Amino acid sequence: MTDTTADLHARTLALASHGPVIPVIVLDRLSDAVPLARALVAGGVRVLEVTLRTPVAMDAMRAIMAEVPEAIVGAGTVRSVEDARAVQALGCQFAVSPGYTSEIGRVCRDIGLPLLPGVSTASEVMMANADGYRFLKLFPASAVGGANLLKAFASPFHDVVFCPTGGISYETAPQYLSLPNVKVCGGSWLTPADALEAGDWARITELARQTHSLRG
Ligand code: 3PG
Repeated sequence: MTDTTADLHARTLALASHGPVIPVIVLDRLSDAVPLARALVAGGVRVLEVTLRTPVAMDAMRAIMAEVPEAIVGAGTVRSVEDARAVQALGCQFAVSPGYTSEIGRVCRDIGLPLLPGVSTASEVMMANADGYRFLKLFPASAVGGANLLKAFASPFHDVVFCPTGGISYETAPQYLSLPNVKVCGGSWLTPADALEAGDWARITELARQTHSLRG
């Protein structure tokens, strides 16, 4: 591992030190961005993945970074090198991709953007490893084998750790978080669409608080 790769790996891994769950956020209304981020931070959840799935995503991240300094803001659903460059220029502290390409891996390393790349097969783990990535998102976790797949990956990929995401809930998170090769898990259950729609920030703070007891 080069110094740059090791440094980026350490910075990506540090995201897992703030709590057991990274919320995967889909924002339709820009006006929800700051109150939502404040609600999550109030519940002790500081690492926020804002997905590039809606037209307001970039403005939402800009607003959160400006007004909620405690938040550690990253961009999710980064699918291209253009996305990676844009979110790095915006000031995002990390990027998450649903899958892996060497091109994205190389560009993120070149621009110094910590990347949590998505994988769902052993071959993809090997491709990401070959480019220096050893903290990976398993996506879509529940659909590709869930905790059983992570258990099967533990021996051949003994030096790889994961953030499973996709289909995980408050109820199923403990089965992932109890595995030695799982550092943190991701999910959208902290930010239910109906709570956002209703502006029910207290409920979101409570959902965020509950995550802290998930790791036994
Ligand atoms: C993701 O992008 O990581 C997933 O869509 C989040 O999955 P979930 O909505 O099933 O938690």
